[in-house]
Amino acid sequence: MNEVLIRGARLYGEGEPVDVLVADGVIAGIGAPGVATVPEGAEVIEAAGQVLLPGFVDLHTHLREPGREDTETIETGSSAAALGGYTAVFAMANTDPVADNAVVVEHVWRRGREIGLVDVHPVGAVTAGLAGERLAELGTMAKSAAGVRMFSDDGHCVADPLIMRRALEYSTALGTVVAQHAEEPRLTVGAQAHEGERASRLGYTGWPSSAEESIVARDCVLARHAGARLHVCHVSTTGTVDVLAWAKGLGVDVSAEVTPHHLLLTDERLATYDPINKVNPPLRTEADAERMRQALADGVVDCVATDHAPHAVQDKDCEWAAARPGMLGLQTALSIVAETMVRPGLLDWRGVARVMSERPAEIAGLPDQGRPLAEGEPANLVLIDPDAEWTVHGAELASLAGNTPYEGMRLPAVVSATLLRGRITAREGKIG
Ligand code: DOR
Repeated sequence: MNEVLIRGARLYGEGEPVDVLVADGVIAGIGAPGVATVPEGAEVIEAAGQVLLPGFVDLHTHLREPGREDTETIETGSSAAALGGYTAVFAMANTDPVADNAVVVEHVWRRGREIGLVDVHPVGAVTAGLAGERLAELGTMAKSAAGVRMFSDDGHCVADPLIMRRALEYSTALGTVVAQHAEEPRLTVGAQAHEGERASRLGYTGWPSSAEESIVARDCVLARHAGARLHVCHVSTTGTVDVLAWAKGLGVDVSAEVTPHHLLLTDERLATYDPINKVNPPLRTEADAERMRQALADGVVDCVATDHAPHAVQDKDCEWAAARPGMLGLQTALSIVAETMVRPGLLDWRGVARVMSERPAEIAGLPDQGRPLAEGEPANLVLIDPDAEWTVHGAELASLAGNTPYEGMRLPAVVSATLLRGRITAREGKIG
């Protein structure tokens, strides 16, 4: 029997320390420290001073397999996820070939299961080839072995309102959710950086906030009309938060995610012209980042999603306009949330569980993730040392790519262990 005893951790960082016994994939017992006899052969994790949370769920990960296995594979991405405290990730569909059919989504799902470090849920494309012209086979993907629960053309916006309407209708009938990459393409032709004072002074073509806000507003109206469920990817502007608050006030079934980088980084970084900071949507202003933090704290923005986007050196270490957008996120997400939300008192650890585990699991409809820390519940867990710090080095991260915008930064909070259905998938910075 696979048993693990976690000794002296505080559940959600609250109350007195407890011992947690994990057996047969579930939380078998929770009790006062030292009372339980250590079962023979059990692995013991000394966790005094540490915080135990449900394992994190990432609704937005790019694993690059199939097609760009030089930048990330399902295996390396799964390792990064486990080391980052994740027990489930959603792998975006912009692979090559695109995950717009049952064969590709089943491949991704199967590889995830074989590797077994994290539950890999493939996201199905909304439109065939991400071309935005006709719907992909949503029903076939939902009913495949992979059991697709989320559809998205992420990287591209579903710009045609009729296609978006139909996607919302079908998806709702299937019990799935459409995640929109909100970017009105007519407003971002040639866009390189957040449209504002900094971009104009430095000579970047501007990317207006309204490109995001107009699509979010439109899609909330469409979701309301269709009685459908909508999820908005990587929100980045103050105006988007206003639109979400308005729509939620009307009872629209909309949820939204924010990335760690939009919580911390701003367009102040444009001054270096370093494409490590190029990302879609672009880094916005300090006022926008501040609003993201507030909206995450008060729940208008539901959850954190990484938009983990590995890229090869040659696709990042080049002139700005030619560089691909995106940055790594899986192994740094917890620390950026600790830095931007926990340290300033905007979220406590229970709040972190809500935005990194419970809400994402609910949005995607995962029955065995984001569960309460209670006896009989699946042992999908992350153990965190809240007082430890570490220094980020891209070359030391598990991803094949190294494009982290946090290189050299000292950050709070370290994942000490991750457990997937009671099995240790990461411990002290190492797999397994
Ligand atoms: O920065 C981004 N990179 N945003 C996206 O929406 C797509 C992603 C990617 O696939 O690299």
